[in-house]
Amino acid sequence: MTTQPGAILDLGFTERLSQVRASIEKRLDELLSESRNERDLVALAMRESTLAPGKRMRPILLILIADGLGHRSNCALDLGCAVELIHAASLVLDDMPCMDNASLRRGRPTVHLKFGEDVAILTAVALLSRAFGVIASISELAPSIRTQLVELAANAVGMKGLVSGQFQDLRDGQRSRSPEQIALTNNLKTGVLFGAIVDMAWLISNSDERVRAVLQNFALELGQAFQMYDDLCDNCPDSGKDQGKDVGKSTFVSIYGVDKVREQLYTHLANAERNLRQVFDDADMIAGFMAMVFKKATITR
Ligand code: IPE
Ligand code: IPE
Ligand code: MG
Ligand code: MG
Ligand code: MG
Repeated sequence: MTTQPGAILDLGFTERLSQVRASIEKRLDELLSESRNERDLVALAMRESTLAPGKRMRPILLILIADGLGHRSNCALDLGCAVELIHAASLVLDDMPCMDNASLRRGRPTVHLKFGEDVAILTAVALLSRAFGVIASISELAPSIRTQLVELAANAVGMKGLVSGQFQDLRDGQRSRSPEQIALTNNLKTGVLFGAIVDMAWLISNSDERVRAVLQNFALELGQAFQMYDDLCDNCPDSGKDQGKDVGKSTFVSIYGVDKVREQLYTHLANAERNLRQVFDDADMIAGFMAMVFKKATITR
């Protein structure tokens, strides 16, 4: 089932990663250029929230995985940016007073604080619509593939993904939850979008079903590891977010403690990498990127 390493190996790790990052920043800017209107606060908030410095983990992974599966076109870039728009919308909503009531995001005041709650809600809706529009209009892809991609994104956003996970997190997080319940919520609010990314990469590269199943396992493990990482960083002073937002919430950290969660995180990461190496002869680029993202997981609370 292994796939030949793609063009990613022609360049060194750092060089390739900066190239991918730069292409994402440029494309996001272009995709939001219609909203370059300083007097329209929703347009401004769409640009500011999305173009603020994020890790760009989702588009980077989508591009690297599609590349590794042999896909050669800019479709992965547009898909990755569409997923980043969805992610940006989810952050705007997540920060609102009726949700996590956060004041800082990516080192900047949250959208509702800077522009108002009305603008924040409209910004999230506009980012989601832009994302679906981008996916539907990737002209290099056959209409039937585009339809499937839109469906993947719709499922990841709605009741099979982000919306459901966010609702469970907000309403059930305030009482004690079983580890299984926490894992389910974390998968819905964080893992499912990684699942959509790998499915998108798989779909545009015309790979076989077995590859899809292994990549889904990769996404599941990565999602669990990533939410644990985020929860471990709740008190990190340099996260660019408010500290202590999880106080009083039932998370793996609150039930197991930092050390055990860090151990579990590394187990999930190792499982994710094992799945990755089942698909790719050379997964060093993707594994290296993941190691970079997760490097702060050793930080104690
Ligand atoms: C934060 O996501 C929300 C979670 C799913 C934990 P990221 O940590 O990827 O946020 P940015 O994009 O880098 O700001
Ligand atoms: C992730 O959970 C929520 C989303 C998927 C938007 P958090 O609420 O913990 O994310 P942060 O810590 O605010 O980024
Ligand atoms: Mg939240
Ligand atoms: Mg939050
Ligand atoms: Mg968090």
